[in-house]
Amino acid sequence: MTTLIVVGAQWGDEGKGKVVDVLASQAQVVARYAGGNNAGHTLVLGARKIVTHLVPSGCAYPGTACVLGAGMVIDMDVFQSEVAELQRAGMLLGDELRVSLDAHVILPFHRQLDGLREDQASGGAGRIGTTRRGIGPAYEAKAARRGVRVRDLLDPSRLRVRLEQNKQHVDFELQRHGVAAIDVDAIVRAAEGWAAWLRGKVCDVGALVEAAVRAGQRVLCEGAQGALLDLDHGTYPYVTSSTTLAGGACAGLGIGPTRVDAVWGITKAYTTRVGAGPFPTCERGPLGELLRSAGDEYGATTGRPRDCGWLDLPALRHAARLNGLTGLCVTKLDVLAALPSVQVCRRYADGAEPGEVLLEDVVAEYEPVPGWGDPQLRERIAVARRLEDLPSPARAYLDAIEATVGVPITLVSVGPDRAQTILTRAAFG
Ligand code: IMP
Repeated sequence: MTTLIVVGAQWGDEGKGKVVDVLASQAQVVARYAGGNNAGHTLVLGARKIVTHLVPSGCAYPGTACVLGAGMVIDMDVFQSEVAELQRAGMLLGDELRVSLDAHVILPFHRQLDGLREDQASGGAGRIGTTRRGIGPAYEAKAARRGVRVRDLLDPSRLRVRLEQNKQHVDFELQRHGVAAIDVDAIVRAAEGWAAWLRGKVCDVGALVEAAVRAGQRVLCEGAQGALLDLDHGTYPYVTSSTTLAGGACAGLGIGPTRVDAVWGITKAYTTRVGAGPFPTCERGPLGELLRSAGDEYGATTGRPRDCGWLDLPALRHAARLNGLTGLCVTKLDVLAALPSVQVCRRYADGAEPGEVLLEDVVAEYEPVPGWGDPQLRERIAVARRLEDLPSPARAYLDAIEATVGVPITLVSVGPDRAQTILTRAAFG
């Protein structure tokens, strides 16, 4: 088995950074295939905490190729400063980075439009609660066939034509908000610097990944956001603008589905969401606050407090189906021990199923989970390195998840550190 896709199975923030970092020790290629710097993937390496937004979470391993696929949208200023920061931390000092020529570029006017639209909708209907990083407007331009791609940055005359085309569509909206029109010359000048920096790092990523697969190398595809934020299958319109599902890895990298061997989905032991949109198991009271503080649930990208609530198994089962999961990774199991009592949602009222019924219209039903809520248990969980080391209520909780979702648990994370991981199955068999 050589190709494994790892995806978020909730609303993002499931701990993809840590899981990919752990699994990347066995991979030769780690590839992001969708989204942009709306993502924030946290790696805890000893005393150091590193948050990547665009660079794949395999960056801590010298020599492991870190690949950004065609399905991504890349803000070049953010990308350059992220790479510079990682290099200062001793990473990416070799020839590890590769960027798809076909990835799209987030430009300053995309960021402006994202912010303006959110401000305009502030507090009212239509507000998505985006990360304001320009993600939506960049994907809109891509779908409208006037997006700027990485390859355009290398060709100033083609870039200028593209920018003029965008001016015709976008200036009107910018000026209506009192914001300056697109400055084509300024962007073309900035692109000279981006192009110089990109030289030697750009390639046909699909060809690179295909060659790696054929050579028997291990390829880890790193999803961004989570299943319920998927543009097609998530809680539309409260979603991101790209595919967050495993199926998107093939399109986003430029490889065929026959090259994929396994798909692991990540879920927290509870649920969080940031931004607007339905969240059936949200706890708005003190228990939600307790979860937020125990789990340090603040956005890695925007710092926004996340809404917190119980594990939503119908939604997780839906995510497992959408992704064809072959393995389930459960993170932050230790956090639940900080709570006096734990509940889980195994079904919605009237047996409603996500996909058929909108999540804003379902009512979660809860079951209490026994024997939790002892601070000493948290310590025992944090040092567990095998399933057998876990206290029995925690194991029973994992068994219930596995039985309800119908996917074997392959990894359990019991703390932020790499070592605080229980791997029950080899990632690359
Ligand atoms: P956008 O991706 O910035 O357009 O935001 C659209 C929605 O997706 C908002 O609700 C964001 O909060 C959410 N979102 C985007 N990226 C992430 C992420 O990495 N984690 C959690 N939520 C995200």
